[in-house]
Amino acid sequence: MIILAVETSCDETAMAIVEDGKKVLANEVYTQISIHTQFGGVVPEVASREHIKKVTYVLDNLLKQTDLTIDDVDYIAVTSTPGLIGSLMVGINTAKTIALVYNKPLVYVNHIYGHIYANYLENDFHFPLLALVVSGGHTELVLMKDHFEFEILGETMDDAVGESYDKIARVVEVGYPGGPIIDKMAKEGRSTYDLPRPNPGGYNFSFSGLKSAVINLYNKTKQHGEELRYNDLAASFQQAVIECLVNKTIKAAMEYHVKQVIIAGGVAANKGLREELGKRVNELGIEFSIPAFKYCTDNAAMIAAAAYNQILKDKRNGN
Ligand code: KG4
Ligand code: ZN
Repeated sequence: MIILAVETSCDETAMAIVEDGKKVLANEVYTQISIHTQFGGVVPEVASREHIKKVTYVLDNLLKQTDLTIDDVDYIAVTSTPGLIGSLMVGINTAKTIALVYNKPLVYVNHIYGHIYANYLENDFHFPLLALVVSGGHTELVLMKDHFEFEILGETMDDAVGESYDKIARVVEVGYPGGPIIDKMAKEGRSTYDLPRPNPGGYNFSFSGLKSAVINLYNKTKQHGEELRYNDLAASFQQAVIECLVNKTIKAAMEYHVKQVIIAGGVAANKGLREELGKRVNELGIEFSIPAFKYCTDNAAMIAAAAYNQILKDKRNGN
């Protein structure tokens, strides 16, 4: 089954052609990061306009990577939600147009499910499975007992984890997006600042208090003319984030006797998180899966992998 997938939910214009949910035949991602950097975050109106400008260019580049033509494709898949509405609409209209012109069935895919299925590109799923979804817009612990069965055990009560990385980076003026920058700084520093580990109970998360603690510390140090150890602050923040995420993931993995723990979303690219969660999951003798770096942040190969499993599930259910 060959799927051509389109993803434009935020600031990446992405398309991919994937065979049987695993074999990536072509993968093209145009990122708008350099454009949004000047604003310190994604500007929705700018993002939609940029998608419109780049969408045919991305499709052309995609098709150059393979001998296939759109006629060889079985399904068109597109991210339909969640995301920036103007950005999503560009992808949806593109996918609808291709489906109409080439007479192909169209499949709508949830972006979060796409992040989860980024893992499927390289690893099979073993159920019950626990997914830690950590992106710029979401922080969720999801239990899966089968393909395309998602039970949310807990989620953030306020900021998503990637969002707090990005907001801190903006205030501290180290660049955009904050995640990879702070991750790199954290590697050079030590966790010496005392920061809170917010725990809203159950399997829920909260990052806004931690984010405010970092920003307050930064402002206070500046006001007092004291020296701020930027890398140590990054390491302290990252350590607090990792503890919050890893402790709850491990607790849920034990309670639900899962066979596999996977990590998904842009923050899954975080080196500290990958290492610590991997270590703790392996100690329990549970399988651990992480997507390749290039499939952690937004891309369309993950949308194709999700669409493939969604289609198979619908077929099994006789739909
Ligand atoms: O999944 P994604 O590409 O877009 C959303 O669906 O939100 O995630 C983007 C988020 C941003 O907040 C970015 O700062 C964060 O992922 N991110 C990271 C790292 N790389 C990207 N956060 C922490 N460490 C990283 N290495
Ligand atoms: Zn995403």
